[in-house]
Amino acid sequence: MTDRRDFLRFAASGLALAALGPRAAAAQAPLKIGMIGAGREGSALGTLFVKAGHPVMFASRNPERLKDLAAGLGPLAQAGTVEQAVAFGDVIVLVVPYPAIAEIGKAHASALAAKALVLDVSNPIPRRDGEEFVKSVNAEGGAGLMTAKLVPGARIVRGFNAIGSTRLGTIAHRAGDPVGVPIAGDDLVGGLAMGKHLVPGTPLGGEHSPAELRRIAATLR
Ligand SMILES: NC(=O)c1ccc[n+]([C@@H]2O[C@H](COP(=O)([O-])OP(=O)(O)OC[C@H]3O[C@@H](n4cnc5c(N)ncnc54)[C@H](OP(=O)(O)O)[C@@H]3O)[C@@H](O)[C@H]2O)c1
Repeated sequence: MTDRRDFLRFAASGLALAALGPRAAAAQAPLKIGMIGAGREGSALGTLFVKAGHPVMFASRNPERLKDLAAGLGPLAQAGTVEQAVAFGDVIVLVVPYPAIAEIGKAHASALAAKALVLDVSNPIPRRDGEEFVKSVNAEGGAGLMTAKLVPGARIVRGFNAIGSTRLGTIAHRAGDPVGVPIAGDDLVGGLAMGKHLVPGTPLGGEHSPAELRRIAATLR
C-alpha cells in the first residue's frame, strides 16, 4: 500500500471482491464496516461482508429493529445507531434513500471526511424520491458529484448501485465468470462524475462480467 490512492482502490475493489468475487477475497485483512442503512440492500450487502470476515455494524434510527439480523450473523455483526456506526467503521457504506444523504452528510460531515472510504450505494429514483428531486441531482452532475457535495471532504466511491438485493446472495461467489461491480470515484480510473452511470436502468446497470463492464464503460462519458 504505497499511498492513499492505493488504499482506496484496495478498499473499494476489496469490498467488491468480498461481496461478489472469488472466495480468496476472504483472506484479505478485515475492514471495520459501518452500514448506514440496513434495509433490503444494506442488510444483503452487509451480510456478505460479514461472511467474508469483516466486522460490520448495521445502523438504523431504531437499532432495536436490527438486533435479530445482527444476532443471526454471529459475533462479527452488531446493530447500532447511525452515529455509532459512523464511529465504528473504517469504511462507511451509505445505503439509504438518496434524499437521506443530505441529513446524514450534515450531521456527520467531519467524521465522514476522516474515513478511508465512503461507499455510496444509494440511488436517486424518480418514483420513490420524486421527478423534481432527481432533476435537481442530475443538475449537479448526477449521483456521485452530488454525493460529494452533500458529504464534503469525504472520499466517495459509488458501487453496487444497480445489483438488486435479492440477487446478491445468489451471485456472490458463483462458479465461473464473476459478476463485475462497476465503481466510480475520484481516486479511481473514471472519476466520480462517472457515478451518474451507476444507477439502475443504465448500460452499466444489472449483472455483467468484468470484461463486459470494461467494454460498456469505454463507450460512456
Ligand atoms: N433494494 C435494492 O435492490 C437496491 C439495489 C441497489 C441500490 N439500492 C439503493 O440503496 C438504497 C436503499 O435501498 P433499500 O431498497 O435497501 O431501501 P429500504 O429497504 O427502504 O432501506 C432503507 C434504509 O435506509 C435507512 N434510512 C432511511 N432514512 C434514513 C435516514 N434519514 N438516516 C439514516 N438511515 C436512514 C432505513 O433505516 P431506518 O431503520 O432508520 O428506517 C433503512 O435501513 C436506495 O438508495 C436504493 O436506491 C437498492
